[in-house]
Amino acid sequence: MKLLLSFDQIQGRIVEMGKQIAADYTGREPHLVGVLKGACPFMTDLAQAIDLPLTLDYIAVSSYGKATKSSGEVKLVKDLDQGLEGRDLLVVEDIVDTGLTLNYLLNLLRARGPRTLKVVALLSKPARRLVDVHLDYVGFTIEDEFVVGYGLDYNEKYRNLRDIVVYGP
Ligand code: IMP
Ligand code: MG
Repeated sequence: MKLLLSFDQIQGRIVEMGKQIAADYTGREPHLVGVLKGACPFMTDLAQAIDLPLTLDYIAVSSYGKATKSSGEVKLVKDLDQGLEGRDLLVVEDIVDTGLTLNYLLNLLRARGPRTLKVVALLSKPARRLVDVHLDYVGFTIEDEFVVGYGLDYNEKYRNLRDIVVYGP
């Protein structure tokens, strides 16, 4: 499989993103909501790169199932543990592809009354967008290729790769 982003490249970018977020949220306490399972490594590294008091929670939605194409159907699989009322919510996604998953999530979370709501995505594939979702922070914009590693899976595998690679035989 072809290397797209090395672990060191990813970490370097996350440090920059963490500094930017810390500057933007000075004096506040962001509440990070990570989208399981893909965003786990990113959520962990990003949280450590933000030099502010913050809190974490996780939500799970089903997206592609076993195929690499979006069904357009999104289901809530695991809800948050904590409420969002009045909080400075930062949604943490691994990758935004069609935007369907994020669009669903944002509608769900916005209805719970956070004070502010921003989105941080490690990867964005704008060529495949079906819904126009605003991303406040993006790690890397990539081409229309299916990638795995650093949390991203194909068929639940390859999440444990340190680098992000293009999936292929
Ligand atoms: P969207 O709803 O099409 O934006 O897809 C969002 C979800 O699909 C992501 O959170 C990933 O779980 C998955 N996904 C989209 N593109 C890729 C990819 O290239 N590799 C692995 N998972 C992907
Ligand atoms: Mg995901």
